[in-house]
Amino acid sequence: MTPIILDMDPGIDDAVALSIALTNPAIDIKLLTSVAGNVSVDKTTINLLKLTTFFKQTQVPVARGAASPLQKEFVDASYIHGVSGMPGYEFPTVTTQALTIDAVSAMAKVLSEAPEPMTIVATGSYTNIALLIQKHPDLLNKIKQFVLMGGSLSGGNVSSVAEFNIFTDPDAAKIVFKSGVPIVMIGLDVTLKALLSLHTIDAVASLGEAGKMLHQLMTAYGDSEPGGKPMHDVNTICYLLKPEFYTIKDYWVDIITEGPAAGATIADTQNRWSDGKINAKVAVDIDTETFEKWFIEQIPVMNQ
Ligand code: BDR
Ligand code: CA
Repeated sequence: MTPIILDMDPGIDDAVALSIALTNPAIDIKLLTSVAGNVSVDKTTINLLKLTTFFKQTQVPVARGAASPLQKEFVDASYIHGVSGMPGYEFPTVTTQALTIDAVSAMAKVLSEAPEPMTIVATGSYTNIALLIQKHPDLLNKIKQFVLMGGSLSGGNVSSVAEFNIFTDPDAAKIVFKSGVPIVMIGLDVTLKALLSLHTIDAVASLGEAGKMLHQLMTAYGDSEPGGKPMHDVNTICYLLKPEFYTIKDYWVDIITEGPAAGATIADTQNRWSDGKINAKVAVDIDTETFEKWFIEQIPVMNQ
């Protein structure tokens, strides 16, 4: 089992990713943390609790994270994810609560108690992780890697160059990419290829209560491409379980924090300024059909 800390801003594609992570026996979530992003942190926190309740996984601790980016003003993406962040399905009443300590303190506690360095997966902006790096530099050697949804080497989805998670908090992203912790960057280069066709989304509806829930969320999801809907965040969990699905290139990646290109991820593809150093494994390709088939196979496991 791979033990992970999972930092998220659910958000519909976050919710789909978490549904797989909570129910796949190969993944052991030691801590769930929320961050402001697709909707406010109050809403992303309650959405995490809704999902742990739905999947009867209330033993997984949830900690509330940052309410706003390090420096920028917070702007949500409710135009894509709805006002609640998880619209379209009536979740059971939540009876559990978030921890009384915040996300950064909870991450520090889990890392310091972990016998081995752990993977941190982030599918929202990286505000919590940047704060962890700043407040607990002594714990960096307890982090095996960051597996991040974010960035792009081939154009953005918020501006012509910036992807939403990086654009929301580029200052945090800069800290994370300079941390020295190995990074796997799963950005729009692959997530816009890993589409679920409308046919697949419809087919999911008949796969038990979990399938019904995911179908309703994915139907309400406002992100859409000509070939289907991109489940960006699901790729982080897919990468953990099936890294062989992804074509990876090693680069030095830097973050633009200001100006018209704010939020851009720049890789030194021509080795001009990084001196041959590498800070990230960047996912650059994926086979859509293989991804879609794998995705459908996850749903029956969720209903067990
Ligand atoms: C990312 O932005 C968010 O809206 C999604 O949840 C995903 O994490 C895609 O750019
Ligand atoms: Ca997200």
